[in-house]
Amino acid sequence: MSAPNIETIVSLAKRRGFVFPASDIYGGLGSSWDYGSLGVELANNIKQSWWRWLVHERDDIEGLDSSIIQNRLVWKYSGHETTFSDPLVDCRNCKGRFRLDKLQDVNCPKHQSIHPGEDKECDLTEAREFNLMFKTTVGAISSDEDETALAYLRPETAQGIFVNFANVLNTSRRKLPFGIAQIGKAFRNEVTPGNFIFRTREFEQMELEYFCSAEDAPRVMQEFIDEFQKWFNSLGISAENLKLYEQSKEELAHYAERTVDVLYRFFPERDDEEKQFDELMGIANRTDFDLKTHSKKPEDAEGKRINSDSTEDLSYFDEATKQRFYPYVIEPSVGVNRTLLAVLMDAYTEKTNEKGETRVILKLKPELAPIKVAVLPLAKNKPEIVAMAKDLKKQLLPAMRTVYDDTGGIGKLYARQDEIGTPFCVTVDHESLEDEAVTVRDRDTWAQERIKVTELKEYLQKRLSAL
Ligand code: GAP
Repeated sequence: MSAPNIETIVSLAKRRGFVFPASDIYGGLGSSWDYGSLGVELANNIKQSWWRWLVHERDDIEGLDSSIIQNRLVWKYSGHETTFSDPLVDCRNCKGRFRLDKLQDVNCPKHQSIHPGEDKECDLTEAREFNLMFKTTVGAISSDEDETALAYLRPETAQGIFVNFANVLNTSRRKLPFGIAQIGKAFRNEVTPGNFIFRTREFEQMELEYFCSAEDAPRVMQEFIDEFQKWFNSLGISAENLKLYEQSKEELAHYAERTVDVLYRFFPERDDEEKQFDELMGIANRTDFDLKTHSKKPEDAEGKRINSDSTEDLSYFDEATKQRFYPYVIEPSVGVNRTLLAVLMDAYTEKTNEKGETRVILKLKPELAPIKVAVLPLAKNKPEIVAMAKDLKKQLLPAMRTVYDDTGGIGKLYARQDEIGTPFCVTVDHESLEDEAVTVRDRDTWAQERIKVTELKEYLQKRLSAL
């Protein structure tokens, strides 16, 4: 089982402290969200899994953390200033503003049952291009119109990688093929954000730019398509909720030769199965566009430099073939927030207890669970039990994230830990003081086992790694 719809997760996320609406006490700010104590842990665990897999476990990828605000010229030569826009239309009747290419995804504000443009009353304007980059100014400026101070919040982390290509290559002494990985915030002034954390104006990306020869690019791309599906599976996302989508020639970005999106079933409630899926990540063959466009040497057909501002040539010299060329780039780009949403949706299950009550269990993989073990005292008014429970928490903590919780009766505490995905609860009771043993309760089966305190850490570590 997984969540029946996103709304179920919105409610759980708010109730249990994963995600809250941002600026809520001032009426919110359209489609902005804050991550609470459990949400930030879950997001960090997803990012750590990605980073460990790509940067630590593989031997061919370097990490990077580049600035959010770069020189404006980065966005001029990347093409974002001229092409990073959506076609906008207004309705003269309902005063709504929509993305022309996404009319089917929204409802008319006046007539909720139809999409904009479907009623004879709809009076849509001609489409005009709306650039999605957030503008800002850098330094003490004389006026907001001062063009020399204009800068942008990055709409993708990728460009920070391309402009650092030579820095990383030279300092790491890498040879092709190799990659540069980066995790960070990106900003887009989306026309129609929505669906909780699925499309927001501020979000986080995990991007890998993998540099290789043109000949190797198709094979490398296919390997990443396969590997990323396996990685999503390792996060607990089931294969039946994932699907690949090959972008058509018309859909491809101007720099891409091929793009395959990995889709997730974010909208299981929709009747049409095709429409249940939407983009979780994209994997693109960006050709040699990026390194060429940021280099000072390449020329156009008329012999004019395509970049008259760059001071660097980002070509690569292959010692083996004695050839100089601009490497191709394969780019797997994943959204942290969409991954977190998919993980929550897939982990969501319901179970009926012996009283016939429905309980929510979040079957998160232990690697992702914000809390691995909760230590609970059966009687919080008994100082010896409380002391033993607190001591156990301290003992377990260096090996696994453990919390102590005495904020309710044992039934309530179990239910809360199930709902936030804690794989094991450890209960200290009156008998524990005598027999130096505790009860370990399994989140998924609710089965309980008595374990000696001296064996507890090893026992939990084994069970956690087996889940
Ligand atoms: N550098 C390539 C790039 O940025 P993209 O398909 O525009 O490609 C990559 O974005 C991923 O970033 C998407 O697959 C999605 O997971 C995430 N993403 C993009 N826009 C988003 C938004 N407005 N809100 C949340 N996540 C977003």
